[in-house]
Amino acid sequence: MIVSWCFICAFVVLINKVCLQVPVEGFIGGSVVLPCSSDERDLKLQDINVLWRDKGSETVYDIISGKDSVERQNPQYKNRAETFPEEYERRNFSIKLINLTRTDEGEFSCFIIHSSDSKEEIVRLFINDSTVVPNKESPKQENHEPQTILIVICVCIIILLISVSVVYFIIHRKRTQTQYREAPVVN
Ligand SMILES: *[C@@H]1O[C@H](CO)[C@@H](O)[C@H](O)[C@H]1NC(C)=O
Ligand SMILES: *[C@@H]1O[C@H](CO)[C@@H](O)[C@H](O)[C@H]1NC(C)=O
Repeated sequence: MIVSWCFICAFVVLINKVCLQVPVEGFIGGSVVLPCSSDERDLKLQDINVLWRDKGSETVYDIISGKDSVERQNPQYKNRAETFPEEYERRNFSIKLINLTRTDEGEFSCFIIHSSDSKEEIVRLFINDSTVVPNKESPKQENHEPQTILIVICVCIIILLISVSVVYFIIHRKRTQTQYREAPVVN
């Protein structure tokens, strides 16, 4: 029983990781805002570090004690990542990535770190093959597609999780019953 609970917990963690990703879509040569913000308003900006990392854990951008730092920035992001310092007071640490290439596609992690707590936000960037930037009137609709795919994936994983745990539970029960039936014979 404990094993099956561990099993379920592991799956729930996995699902959370997939489902909590924020999908954004960009175009080759275009730009995109990768969102990341915190609800914590009580903290001083000087006490917050924000680390933006890409899928290979390379540094995209660091905001150290509320100040921009490109010291450790990977050369592939040189002059391609912009921050919004005027938004820091609102605990909005979103960055803008410009001159997008196909290789930018993937997960970006935003770690908001302070003394008492830290949190990670994951943004999933999809790169559209088209180099034509669509007109800005319907950006909501463009974001819709990757989001739908993610929801479908999540639902599939949940269904898989439920069926796997049901099967596991049945097998486990059968085994327990067998042991139970055999027990009197031993005695
Ligand atoms: C971004 O693209 C523009 C226009 O193609 C180019 O002039 C600029 O040098 C590029 N910047 C970087 C950092 O690649
Ligand atoms: C954060 O700032 C960016 C850039 O100004 C903006 O696009 C985004 O909507 C802001 N996010 C929030 C949660 O205010």
